[in-house]
Amino acid sequence: MLLCDIARSVANEVRLRTVYAGIGRRASGVLIGRQVRLVSRKYIQLGRRVHIGDFCRIFGGSRPDSISIGDGTVIHDFCILRTSAGEIQLGRECSLNPYCVVLGEDVAIGNHVRIASHTVIAAENHIFDRLDVPIASQGCQSRGIVIEDDVWIGAGCAILDGVTIGTGAVIGAGSVVTKDVEQFSVVAGTPARLIRMRTAGQGPAPGPVEAAVHVASTELPEKGTV
Ligand SMILES: CC(C)(COP(=O)(O)OP(=O)(O)OC[C@H]1O[C@@H](n2cnc3c(N)ncnc32)[C@H](O)[C@@H]1OP(=O)(O)O)[C@@H](O)C(=O)NCCC(=O)NCCS
Repeated sequence: MLLCDIARSVANEVRLRTVYAGIGRRASGVLIGRQVRLVSRKYIQLGRRVHIGDFCRIFGGSRPDSISIGDGTVIHDFCILRTSAGEIQLGRECSLNPYCVVLGEDVAIGNHVRIASHTVIAAENHIFDRLDVPIASQGCQSRGIVIEDDVWIGAGCAILDGVTIGTGAVIGAGSVVTKDVEQFSVVAGTPARLIRMRTAGQGPAPGPVEAAVHVASTELPEKGTV
């Protein structure tokens, strides 16, 4: 290794520590991709081995721990998480695939949850009671969304405010989930309806949890973007 490479790697390490110092209490093994923006980062808690892909945007709210991301969770490129007065909690070993959006007040996502690309979890609705005031001026309301452990959400779904998705449920691609989903059920469509219940089967032997695809690079975000 050339001397300048060593110097560059030491400098990177120092900058890395400085960047992570403001991000959370436990941040070992965290990888953050290029052009990531963490807004209000003192309210964003990242667990160990969290990976955040390139171009993600995470908007912490206005109170401590308003966004928390559990150990081993991978947020792939171009995802957006945004809360203002509430909390978004993502559990351990989850994956949020490219172009997902999680927004609103109070979203609780359990452990081992897989969320495929282009899914929107929208825990808020515009108020539109009045006709004489623009919808944009009537404010928003939020009841919150709960997604329990081991749920698989297919690509391109919309999960609407007030919904609870029970443990082990599967949501078919392109579904709009408007009502609670029973645990271990398979639902699909718009609005999502029950297809069947999951039953114990003879699948392949369980292996390790799907390896995290490390989309996040170890490069530091450009100055001023974090
Ligand atoms: C829901 C899913 C898991 C299949 O579950 P399944 O229990 O094997 O369901 P089947 O394929 O036997 O289909 C059962 C019925 O549901 C319908 N169905 C299946 N998936 C559907 C979907 N996403 N939307 C609407 N209807 C769907 C089928 O057309 C079939 O209807 P029919 O009985 O009238 O013919 C699968 O269709 C799916 O949507 N996978 C998501 C894939 C994905 O997004 N991958 C991203 C990378 S992880």
